[in-house]
Amino acid sequence: MKCYGVIGDPIGHSLSPVMHNSQFNTFGIDAIYLPFHVNNEGLRNAIDGMRGLKIRGMSVTIPHKESIIKHLDAIDEEASKIGAVNTIINENNKLIGTNTDGKGFINSVIDYGFSLNDKKVLIIGAGGASRAIIYRLSLSGVSSITVANRTTSRAEELLSEIGIDCKNTVISLNDVSEIIDEFDLVVNTTSVGMSPNISDIPFTFNKVKKGSHFIDIIYNPYETKFLNRASSLGATVQNGIGMFIHQGAIAFELWTGKEANIKLMEKVVVERLGEKNNANR
Ligand code: ATR
Repeated sequence: MKCYGVIGDPIGHSLSPVMHNSQFNTFGIDAIYLPFHVNNEGLRNAIDGMRGLKIRGMSVTIPHKESIIKHLDAIDEEASKIGAVNTIINENNKLIGTNTDGKGFINSVIDYGFSLNDKKVLIIGAGGASRAIIYRLSLSGVSSITVANRTTSRAEELLSEIGIDCKNTVISLNDVSEIIDEFDLVVNTTSVGMSPNISDIPFTFNKVKKGSHFIDIIYNPYETKFLNRASSLGATVQNGIGMFIHQGAIAFELWTGKEANIKLMEKVVVERLGEKNNANR
């Protein structure tokens, strides 16, 4: 039996095991995907263990996405540009890091049916998730990418480190409300509004562009206040489940060479999320 897993701290609430095991089961692959609770001090040993036990693939989540890099044999260009790894592939005991978050985001938007071609995009936030999304968006045919962040210097740094051209602009979070109706796609990549702080919103707004699409990478709650507001103003909305599933689907394909069953992944993840929410009530 082949072994795969996810390392993070905390890890108990990870939806990755149920998502990946559904694929091993449905494709009849003799493999298991396990959650591994690894803190910062244990990271080196965990990676040595991955080599020693010949674990075939590993997902990497908070807080290890950046600090894992120094323990790997190589990372690809995307992980290098983003400065973070979310997926490790064990190729004959050579550990290769990549990052499937940005591509997962793009695939989730395509899956939803929203065309990115020539669109004006606003990204809220300049952390790790924002970086992965912006890197891929810059390759996807959008007409412009604007980044709004509480700390504008962090957004400027992000763009220059990714090497994105000057068509891109940075604005303060305080100025977003005024111009939000200029954008076709608005994406919240901050953790503002995540459970338990469900009444928080990154900024208030009273207008949206006709035909615009809003995405929150949060999926707990299922609909954040940010999405709820956008929806009530007439925008179409999408939560972060799509990005989560699609980043996992790409990892699964890298590990097994098989195209993931996205619908099944979504079904088991949504079911598990519902169970967790009921248990917390
Ligand atoms: P991740 O790696 O998960 O994306 P991160 O690196 O901690 O997370 O980044 C968090 C993002 O959310 C940042 O853009 C942060 O803004 P700052 O760069 O100004 O810190 C943003 N963020 C977090 N809490 C916020 C809040 N209360 N209001 C506005 N922005 C917030």
